[in-house]
Amino acid sequence: MRRTMKFWLPIGMALVALGVLASACGGGTSSSDKTATAAAGKKTPVTTGTSAAGATATSAPLSGKLEIFSWWTTGGEAAGLKELFNLYPATCPGTVEIVNATVAGGGGANARQVLTTRMLGNDPPGSFQVHMGHELTDTWVTGDYMEPLDTLFTQQGWASVFPKGVLDIVSYQGKPYSVPVNIHRANVLWYNKSVFTANNLQVPKTLDDFFTAADALKAKGITPLALGDVDSFASIQLMETVLLGTLGADGYNGLWTGATDWNSAKVTDALNAYKKMLGYVNSDHSSLSWDQANDLVISGKAAMTIMGDWLEGDNKAKKFTGYGWAPSPGTAGVYDALSDTFGLPKKAPNRDAVICWLKVVGSKKGQEAFNPLKGSICARTDCDASLFDEYLQSAMKDWKTDKIVPSLAHGAAVKQGWLTEVSDAVTAFVADKNAGTLQSRLAAACKTAGVCK
Ligand code: GAL
Repeated sequence: MRRTMKFWLPIGMALVALGVLASACGGGTSSSDKTATAAAGKKTPVTTGTSAAGATATSAPLSGKLEIFSWWTTGGEAAGLKELFNLYPATCPGTVEIVNATVAGGGGANARQVLTTRMLGNDPPGSFQVHMGHELTDTWVTGDYMEPLDTLFTQQGWASVFPKGVLDIVSYQGKPYSVPVNIHRANVLWYNKSVFTANNLQVPKTLDDFFTAADALKAKGITPLALGDVDSFASIQLMETVLLGTLGADGYNGLWTGATDWNSAKVTDALNAYKKMLGYVNSDHSSLSWDQANDLVISGKAAMTIMGDWLEGDNKAKKFTGYGWAPSPGTAGVYDALSDTFGLPKKAPNRDAVICWLKVVGSKKGQEAFNPLKGSICARTDCDASLFDEYLQSAMKDWKTDKIVPSLAHGAAVKQGWLTEVSDAVTAFVADKNAGTLQSRLAAACKTAGVCK
């Protein structure tokens, strides 16, 4: 049975009924390398091009360079992206050369820095990876850096293939501004099955279960929880899952609307549990990336990690199959969601080639090729589930029935400025472990954002 729920209680955007979304969803190193060249010499004309108000179609083979900007550099990320590049020539005949412009760093903070410099300096890439929600709308759309995509959405019939809630979240004043390629889940606990079996452990459902298992593992000399927070998103995301597991979906949603008091005892409990959890992580966490932390789980040096389901794409790329998964402690029935999208910057070089890229990103074929490797489910509702493995099929089911909440670490729950303050507070906390200071800083950040009194 599908539940009625509130979706991404928005702040600065139209309120989106989560029931609508769930029921509709049925279903830094800068590098540039050439990864795909569209089939040369094909002369088939292609209709491309839209403008804000109406179509300004051009019918000509596409040519020139198309720069796609993202932070997808790890195994599963790069593999998924390559699938989209490979599909480009069939949809977009011509001689377009795709330039894969990546800035490494999980969660994209490094990439966003480079992107900001480029956008403000009038040097936008053709298209760039951007999270749906505040990250898209509050910075790029309201700042007037993006073209609306209403004509393209109409041409492609996307109003009926994306869930309404998703469409609302990529829209501003009624017009869509980016094309969602996937849905990721942030609140997943991944574990090494052999380690659990060899040590007779139950997969933790609650935070208490987690600490019981963690103590048993520690006693055996196994790192209970792998963490790689060289990119700060990983520790923010871990905190967000503990807040969710402690406060529940409604309490967690209230943190972003002012309905939940950041100074409350429940938040104190959550932050103390988060602090306790950090007592069970690998000592070199601050020098590892999220995927290097996953290597600890793969090798059995660590038993668990809490990470988004892009980790499943990492396992696939590394051909590791001995993993199990569960909702992170205390979050069964809740889907902590985020989505990667692509849009059309104003003054994008090779605009027609970009619009055709967006067609690939939003296409059924594109999403069916990209997501099984990326470790995400389609944003579209009509993908063929049989193309997806067991974990992703279970995620597709959960997406339809779970309560959906917005990810903090990945640009969905709060504006960028608020997230920056959270990030600074969490980074300081991971070093000094002062939960009281963390709580005051988080409460202050909500005030500064104008959401809390
Ligand atoms: C997220 C992004 C995912 C994945 C992850 C780790 O922000 O949405 O696609 O790439 O970072 O880099």
